[in-house]
Amino acid sequence: MDIKKAEFIISNTDVSRCPKEQLPEYAFIGRSNVGKSSLINMLTNRKSLAKTSGKPGKTQLINHFKINDEWFLVDLPGYGYAKVSKSTKKVFQKFITAYFEKRLQLVSAFVLVDCRHEPQPIDTEFMQWLGENQIPFSIIFTKGDKLKPGALERNVQNYLDTLTSEVWEEAPNYFITSSSSGLGKDELLNYIEDVNEQ
Ligand code: GTP
Ligand code: MG
Repeated sequence: MDIKKAEFIISNTDVSRCPKEQLPEYAFIGRSNVGKSSLINMLTNRKSLAKTSGKPGKTQLINHFKINDEWFLVDLPGYGYAKVSKSTKKVFQKFITAYFEKRLQLVSAFVLVDCRHEPQPIDTEFMQWLGENQIPFSIIFTKGDKLKPGALERNVQNYLDTLTSEVWEEAPNYFITSSSSGLGKDELLNYIEDVNEQ
């Protein structure tokens, strides 16, 4: 699938004020700085449709982007950013949780993890929570350009092996991306296209 049209629709912290249209929706979630907003720009061929930053904690709201007039990509704040205050963290958690629990249009979440890291409790606990709430998700291993191909493959395999030995019998569906090189773009967009057509 090619993205011919990508437009920012609305930012908010209140799931009841998200767009009312009944279009399929896909949400990017993960630690701060993992590359959620950059991936939205890469997929949509836009430099700054979603705001990015070298400093974690850039995205603070639920952001809806309408794609090809047919579906939504949703950029969410990162979890696990230590520098926001405890009370801010709680507010974040509340509206992110409410988004996942209440947003009926959500077809699938994508949990982004840095391809260089081993499984971290904050991510695996969030994946478990999605599972318990019957919210489908895939993992996206981001920043694939930061590792040599061999190391990238090994790291991803280790990550999946750890998940299957500690959390699930079967590994979740996954993608490997790089917002700098465009790695994984076609796979991810074709996957979304297939799911939209189901
Ligand atoms: P928050 O909004 O704070 O939760 O962060 P985010 O997950 O949206 O991350 P963002 O897209 O703002 O990117 C964070 C930093 O990582 C920026 O400096 C990006 O340039 C960099 N980055 C993101 N994706 C990639 C990638 O694929 N490769 C490389 N090398 N850098 C990346
Ligand atoms: Mg962001």
